[in-house]
Amino acid sequence: MRARSLLDTQPLSKTDLESLFRSAQEFRERYQREKTFLAKPLAHGAQRIIACIFFEPSTRTRLSFEHAAYRLGHRVATLDSLTDSSLSKGESYTDTVLNVLAMEPDAIVVRYGESKDLDELLPTLKTPIVNAGSGTHAHPTQALLDAFTLIRERGNRAGRLDGLKVLIVGDIRHSRVARSNFDVLGKLGCELAVCGPPVFIPDDLPSEIKVFNDLNEATDWTDVYMGLRVQLERHNSRDSFARDDYNSRFGLNLDRLKILRDDAIILHPGPINFGIEFSAEAQLDKRYRVLEQVTNGVYIRAAVLDAIFDGRKI
Ligand code: CP
Repeated sequence: MRARSLLDTQPLSKTDLESLFRSAQEFRERYQREKTFLAKPLAHGAQRIIACIFFEPSTRTRLSFEHAAYRLGHRVATLDSLTDSSLSKGESYTDTVLNVLAMEPDAIVVRYGESKDLDELLPTLKTPIVNAGSGTHAHPTQALLDAFTLIRERGNRAGRLDGLKVLIVGDIRHSRVARSNFDVLGKLGCELAVCGPPVFIPDDLPSEIKVFNDLNEATDWTDVYMGLRVQLERHNSRDSFARDDYNSRFGLNLDRLKILRDDAIILHPGPINFGIEFSAEAQLDKRYRVLEQVTNGVYIRAAVLDAIFDGRKI
């Protein structure tokens, strides 16, 4: 990662993370108080253009970057490649990004599926780039907003999460959210565990991450239950799983809501397939913080954009 881009969380130190969380908290408090992110209006010429390029669908990430940018006084040009780009005429991901860059935006937010070409190109660019989710590799702002949500609920005075037990359940193998969270939550002192169908547990899991075979036992162990969507679009032929009994074996259903501690926190990056990874009852549960995650996503993305335009390292 170059300073002023956010391609992955690995280069972020604990101090960098703390600085982003402090900034997100300031935006949150100011917005609750004054309905703006800005202490004073932007000076003439300070307004930037952010190009958002989404080669994969998104609701939360795309819209929350747009909300954050507008509330910071910037402008956004969004390319929703699914409906309105020249990809449909055969243009590649790389050429699309190079052509958007040629318009000289002040920053680019980009989401894409597996692409070695983009993985190689993005770190070489001078324009600040924010990774809005790349293949199965990384989703840095999702992990930041997950951590920020937990810090607001359970952070100690130092803004850390020492000893907090976090269980990530489901399709770990194909999840960029899980990978980024292993890094960020690990740095903040969480104890991490996973549970899911054996075919969805990666072979290269870091040794400090616990693997539970029994979800009831895992649910009893954890302080935080993070469900993941089964990423069908990233599966190949070996990734077959039993959809019919997925909820009873690997879902947060009524029985497991009873096992889960009374003060636990339920997270999910979204989108949720109710009836599969979560039963409908989870949404009504007092421990459910999924919409709080979405709200915090705007503050975290504002903190990231602000750090980029302010020239701070992120
Ligand atoms: N969590 C997340 O990335 O959601 P979207 O795909 O809707 O952006």
